[in-house]
Amino acid sequence: MAWNRKHLLDIESLSADEIRLILDTARAFKAVGERAIKKVPALRGKTVINLFVEPSTRTRTSFELAAIRLSADVINFSTEASSFKKGETLKDTARNLEALSADIIIIRHSAAGAPHFLSRVLLASVVNAGDGAHEHPTQALLDIFTILEKKGRIAGLKVTILGDILYSRVARSDIWALLKLGAQVTLCGPPTLVPKTFEQMGCRVTHDLDDAIRDADIINLLRIQHERQRKAMFPSLSEYTSLYGLNRARLAITKPDALLMHPGPINRGVEIDSESADGERSVILEQVTNGLAVRMAVLFLINGGVGPQEIAA
Ligand code: CP
Repeated sequence: MAWNRKHLLDIESLSADEIRLILDTARAFKAVGERAIKKVPALRGKTVINLFVEPSTRTRTSFELAAIRLSADVINFSTEASSFKKGETLKDTARNLEALSADIIIIRHSAAGAPHFLSRVLLASVVNAGDGAHEHPTQALLDIFTILEKKGRIAGLKVTILGDILYSRVARSDIWALLKLGAQVTLCGPPTLVPKTFEQMGCRVTHDLDDAIRDADIINLLRIQHERQRKAMFPSLSEYTSLYGLNRARLAITKPDALLMHPGPINRGVEIDSESADGERSVILEQVTNGLAVRMAVLFLINGGVGPQEIAA
């Protein structure tokens, strides 16, 4: 199939074939990253702007490196040093960046729907790097890419997402991607953070940690998104950790080849202990590595790239 989208705004609107095309293209870019010369000219002459209005370590850095590896000119917009501080709106800010010849604007914003809004008012391509609690599409794509590398398939796998689902954009994007590709998704955490309404998406919901992890092939942990919670959602962090934190004793009841994932940032000692986070079942840093190839694929495709066949062997 051919890619014919100008923007990447979410996973919900993608077909399974579109997701597979991004993953196949990312696989070709991962091979490029293993060569002596890691750059390709695909975005030469194009300008990519990282418009991050919320903090980020992994996503911003890997989008920047992805654009550099594709030979684009890259600008990292700094909110703190910007005219946001003088009351300029998001629309005016983005239109001014576009007036400076931005071809692709990558946006992270606390408001759900901010990337969709920009896609309607700009001529440039827009990539969602995380919008509120709505979606984080490239995180889901790199998660799926990592699972495929390790397990060779998605269909039929039992994937448990554990933690603060309600406020997590990663959870929503992961759920859409996993279900479209045929995985069985279980969500687990305190009832206040994992309401039964998620069953309407096609997931199983349980509040019993042992039940959630015993048969899982993949355990994907999420941190508590304090920045988006307007009130206390559980009595204390220590109670959360004692009921839902992953540690050596809990790992002992899981399948021996179950993989541990986490989008980062990790709150060590809360949702996962350090021994498990750094242990041999953890693929957390491989997820970060794969984010580069996935983001190269996304920028390449929305710039008009056709697919992996275009990336020279
Ligand atoms: N996973 C993720 O989005 O990390 P950052 O917030 O550091 O980009």
